[in-house]
Amino acid sequence: MIELSGVSVRLSGKRIISDVAFTAEAGKLTAIAGPNGSGKTTGMKAISGELPYQGKIRMNGHDVTRLQPWQLAAMRGVLPQASSISFPFTVREIVRMGLTSGLNRNPEKAEQTAAKALESVDLGGYEGRFYQHLSGGEQQRVQLARVLCQISEPVVDGEPRWLLLDEPVSSLDISHQLTIMRLARAFCDNGGGVIAVMHDLNLTALFADRIILMQSGGLAAAGSVHDVLTDKTMQSVFGCPLRINTVPADGTPFVLAHSAING
Ligand SMILES: Nc1ncnc2c1ncn2[C@@H]1O[C@H](COP(=O)(O)OP(=O)(O)OP(=O)(O)O)[C@@H](O)[C@H]1O
Ligand SMILES: [Mg+2]
Repeated sequence: MIELSGVSVRLSGKRIISDVAFTAEAGKLTAIAGPNGSGKTTGMKAISGELPYQGKIRMNGHDVTRLQPWQLAAMRGVLPQASSISFPFTVREIVRMGLTSGLNRNPEKAEQTAAKALESVDLGGYEGRFYQHLSGGEQQRVQLARVLCQISEPVVDGEPRWLLLDEPVSSLDISHQLTIMRLARAFCDNGGGVIAVMHDLNLTALFADRIILMQSGGLAAAGSVHDVLTDKTMQSVFGCPLRINTVPADGTPFVLAHSAING
């Protein structure tokens, strides 16, 4: 489990998130949604151990601030919202950055693990390509393959592993969005935990078990997809006309902004 209680982060003398509390369970896909600037990335950086914070964050029962970098690296993989790489690395080199040093000492196994991760994000055979020569969506999938190399097993020694994904599908076409969300779902179904920052509310409705909705550095709502995706909550948090409908066949909610043009 990942547990946050009373978490606040200050950056450049400004309070960015304030008194945030929620839990994310292993086996469940927890989505964090909310407007631009609401503090989602800041919250994710606190959880991943990249930013100092006040309050408590526990991962599998451990205080995140007390974990050594190698312990954190074994427990959670992080896909940042933006990754700029200025050197001419190949895809193989980027993906193998995710491997532990032990695995990197076994070149055959390392190559297999990297190839498997690339296959899983539909980039089989891209190993020798230069990262900078790839499209935006391909680069995003290479970064995810790097994370999947680092955290390849959802459970190790009976403890869940965590994927912390900040907008993992933001540059992807609809087919690759589904590929990545299915990967995240499978990771949860096999006992791991995923926290994913999402702007696509319809994909969130399809794949998330829980939604944490942020607004102005705090929590606006937290609960199941049906609890959080309501006309009232979404219109108030996003400040625009939105209508939540449901797919007749199975009741899955979907969000349309059609009232913005139809009144
Ligand atoms: N280092 C910093 N110094 C000062 N302010 C910052 C810093 N980093 C982020 N902020 C501010 O904190 C707020 C929250 O930023 P954050 O990146 O967490 O938002 P977000 O919810 O991830 O937004 P988006 O959907 O656009 O990615 C923003 O107003 C941002 O300008
Ligand atoms: Mg962000």
